[in-house]
Amino acid sequence: MAGQEGKPNVLFLLPPGWDALSKALFGHQAFNSFLHGKDHYAPQQIDYFVGFRPPHGFLKSLPRLKAIFSLGAGVDGFLRDPEFPRHLPVVRFVDETLQREMAQYVTMHALIIHRQQRAFDAAQRESTWKQRMLARPSRDVRIGILGMGDIGAVTAERLLMFDFQVFGWSRSRKTVPDVTSFAGAEELPQFLASCDIMVCMLPLTPETENILDAKLFAGLPQGAWVMNVGRGGHCKEDDLLAALNSDHLGGAVLDVFQTEPLPADSPFWKHPKVTVTPHIAGITDPRNASAFVVDCVTRAQSGAPFKNVVDLTRGY
Ligand code: GLV
Repeated sequence: MAGQEGKPNVLFLLPPGWDALSKALFGHQAFNSFLHGKDHYAPQQIDYFVGFRPPHGFLKSLPRLKAIFSLGAGVDGFLRDPEFPRHLPVVRFVDETLQREMAQYVTMHALIIHRQQRAFDAAQRESTWKQRMLARPSRDVRIGILGMGDIGAVTAERLLMFDFQVFGWSRSRKTVPDVTSFAGAEELPQFLASCDIMVCMLPLTPETENILDAKLFAGLPQGAWVMNVGRGGHCKEDDLLAALNSDHLGGAVLDVFQTEPLPADSPFWKHPKVTVTPHIAGITDPRNASAFVVDCVTRAQSGAPFKNVVDLTRGY
């Protein structure tokens, strides 16, 4: 295969539109780069893999692989592969830009809900001048973040700037300034009862799969909103539709779905209480991803420990 002797060989499986990353990295002096599906590479000579959701069984076909670098914050796309090589370190992309953009998405939609912007959009479509009062001031709106990790903490900070009350729930208790923290299964009901808007930011693991189900929705106050920016696999979509249609839930903002792209016949597209976005709440910035890959390869080559290695038993 092409490539210089002595340098590690890095195989990239890049999502469409990732030219900026390939431009920044191909020809990098620290390693030889190969693009899966385009370049000719010898699987037995690949040292590192960079990607997001490789086809199942693919990583097993790289016998010399030493580490995997995830281009996404969530690594469920790797761990769901039944043949995933579990002895290898997986390094998660933890990035300030990604954290801030996720926080921005959640804050924007929290404000749209709070300021009833959907009703004003509907009135504009009818050329109707119709003033409405705020249901309550933002300091009385309770927003619960289900999954208080690095992204949840930045999101909480941004929501607090708009005077919302912020609650967090996670597996183990987290300390985030001015955020009431709930932890573990036993405190989940109390957390849910405190949410006017509940935002799912969990990693997808066997424990959190389908967590957004009829029982969870029933535990939210009447009229609560649900925002899912985690993974489609967190949500039982039929249960969500039932909770919306029964008027128990006020509405939903959905960025992730069981099937992506969201099929054209999904009832979510046209549902009057649902906002759909195409998995864009947090987009990995190719420039930051380039720096991440270079850092990972440099660490691996010099024997320095990786940052943000996934705990495979926890799944994040
Ligand atoms: C996107 O969904 C990510 O995991 O970064």
